Amino acid sequence: MCGIVGYVGYRQAQPILFNSLFRLEYRGYDSCGIAIADNGITVYKDAGKVGNLEKRVPHLEGTAGIGHTRWATHGEPNQINAHPHCDCSGRFAVVHNGIIGNYRLLKKQLIAEGHRFISETDSEVIPHLIEKYYRGDLEGAVATALKDVEGCYAIIVLAAGESDLVAARKGNPLIIGIGDRENFVASDVPAVLDDTNRVVYLEDGDLGVISTAGIRIMRDGREVAWEEKKILWSVEDAQRAGYEHFMLKEIHEQPRVIRDTLIGWLSSDESSGESLVDLTKMQGDIRPLTLLACGTSYHAALVGRYIIEKVLGIPVRVELASEVNYYDRPPDGAVAIAITQSGETADTLRAMKRAKAAGCLLLAITNVMDSSASRIADEVVYTRAGPEIGVAATKSFAVQLIILYSLAILSYKVDARRLADLVMELRQLPEKLERLLSDKDGIKECAGYLAGYESVFFIGRGINYPIALEGALKLKEISYIHAEGYAAGELKHGSFALLGENTPVVAILARDNTYQAMLSNIKEVKARKAPVIALAEEGDDNVGEFADMVISVPAVDLLFSAVVNVVALQLLAYYTARERGCPIDTPRNLAKSVTVE
Ligand code: AGP
Repeated sequence: MCGIVGYVGYRQAQPILFNSLFRLEYRGYDSCGIAIADNGITVYKDAGKVGNLEKRVPHLEGTAGIGHTRWATHGEPNQINAHPHCDCSGRFAVVHNGIIGNYRLLKKQLIAEGHRFISETDSEVIPHLIEKYYRGDLEGAVATALKDVEGCYAIIVLAAGESDLVAARKGNPLIIGIGDRENFVASDVPAVLDDTNRVVYLEDGDLGVISTAGIRIMRDGREVAWEEKKILWSVEDAQRAGYEHFMLKEIHEQPRVIRDTLIGWLSSDESSGESLVDLTKMQGDIRPLTLLACGTSYHAALVGRYIIEKVLGIPVRVELASEVNYYDRPPDGAVAIAITQSGETADTLRAMKRAKAAGCLLLAITNVMDSSASRIADEVVYTRAGPEIGVAATKSFAVQLIILYSLAILSYKVDARRLADLVMELRQLPEKLERLLSDKDGIKECAGYLAGYESVFFIGRGINYPIALEGALKLKEISYIHAEGYAAGELKHGSFALLGENTPVVAILARDNTYQAMLSNIKEVKARKAPVIALAEEGDDNVGEFADMVISVPAVDLLFSAVVNVVALQLLAYYTARERGCPIDTPRNLAKSVTVE
């Protein structure tokens, strides 16, 4: 996720901007840059660390400027793609956090009108649009330019010869820091905290005009009153946006990163979308498509099998990348898809190379642009989770699922009505997750209960079997409680021997063709005196009769139950670990990226 900062006031802007960029480094980034308004606009930017850029930039005279840390989404991390971006005349400089869904179309139109582009980014369309609409009124030009833009953004615009910065947001956060004869603007609070703790939060659709003298906030073309908030957090607290741990922050970011991920796929007409990769065409015959991954990404692949087989009827083989390397026969389907958050997992990279050598067309689903996986693959689809700092994968898993849903659903051409329903459901997922995240009391209560045990089973069937695996993985990673994810029907083939009053069972129910079998499994478990926590859809009145505790999740089309259920289980693991006083973001013996086989 990119970080943006801006300053206008009586002091030299350069050191203030660099200090703000250092304060945003915790988010992870691959390149950075600043622009200062002197007589014109001077831009310095490059791939690499803020510290390196700071050393190379000479003293720039100017009391207004903007800065950026980039997490690449469109175009590799290099000097040209780094922000700020300018228009042809070099009069307007823009920093942007977000994704412009219709940038290809806008870029084409602007090029036809004579604009010259130099980067591969979506963001570069914004300064060109401002240049196109500028008639001596910066605020008006920015407002008009943003009407053309579909997607999400937080932007700051710096213009030569103007005393104001103009900032705007839709979908991505933006704050204004209030100073004395100076003002600040940034994507998040830590960027301004060294200078001020007086902050105004912009709302979606707001446009802010920031000058030395003061600030104005425009909403729907009218100036609105704003409310100042005092931030009492330390810089470290602010980096976690006030959440106690990065993991909790990242769990809460899921509705937003899902929206960000969908922007590139769904059209604005509400019921359709365009697949960047048509699986039906790529696969071409009946050989199975192979999914390769490790850990949490492997669980996403297992969910992917259900989705792709159900929606497209294409047979799918799922392999642990750490095991497939020992099979004599490498994956030999027409298409292999590697799923890896980091893009650097050694086992996954090795499996990818083998699949490619065996003649597979290789697709990578990864969160990191320019990662090794993206360089090995023939085609890459990027998840838009932004940097994930907690070692336990949460939001990266959710967006891996969203990509798999999108790949399958948008390759589906058979029944237009069913397609429209599925696209609609996808769109509604973020809102349903927001509902789940806004009421966590039931989950906290169950977590308090689980925290006293040393062994827990998670059971599910169908699409929720991999979610049982993921729920168990999350719990053991961060709470150090022994946990096993099980296909519910498998318990009686051996693990029943372990069940008793000291082994709680978390049972995941969905009202699909697995429901009755799951209820029977719960009864069998209860008969062995094991306490049961059931995860069930809101309005499910049956389950309370059998389970000791029930966690309710919003009702969704059954194909999507994996997403709401996994978020509930992430929270269950989080609050259990918290209850046990574990170091949640940095669990013992684990690394964020596993670069050895
Ligand atoms: C999950 O919480 C993990 N930390 C781990 O299982 C991870 O998913 C696995 O190492 C694979 O990583 P990747 O997605 O970066 O390839």
